[in-house]
Amino acid sequence: MKRSAMVSALLLAGLVQSAPAADVELNQTQMLGRRLVDQHCGVCHTRPTLVSGMYGPELSRETAGGREEIVREVVANGTPRMPGFKYMLNTDQIAAIAAYLAVLPPGHQVVNLPPK
Ligand code: HEC
Repeated sequence: MKRSAMVSALLLAGLVQSAPAADVELNQTQMLGRRLVDQHCGVCHTRPTLVSGMYGPELSRETAGGREEIVREVVANGTPRMPGFKYMLNTDQIAAIAAYLAVLPPGHQVVNLPPK
């Protein structure tokens, strides 16, 4: 029982790890940001397969011209087609998201590609 809980914890960690930016070293804050992006943003900002469409634009270090303060503003307050997250996430969490996106290379929006 203990062992299987351990294994599923490892599997779960593996799932989160397999998300974008495997080629970028992330600090603690950016790791938190990645987890939050996986949880809250993927539904609109990733495409499930290479050929499927995406509701929102790709997110990367080029988003909003690479300006973290604009990313934080958009995430907090939303846009006409995107909900704001200021009631769901606190400012530290939103800052962590911006810090993660600031190092995310473009081209990571496809979630189901096999690992390189
Ligand atoms: C319901 C779908 C949806 C969700 C969920 C969502 N977004 Fe968006 N987002 C959009 C759309 C659509 C746009 C494009 C702006 C517009 O059309 O209003 C956008 C735009 C953005 C932009 C501005 C991009 C640019 O180039 O100016 C950022 C930054 C962003 N989203 C970050 C996030 C983050 C981070 C999350 C998760 C915390 C998130 N979004 C969750 C739909 C979504």
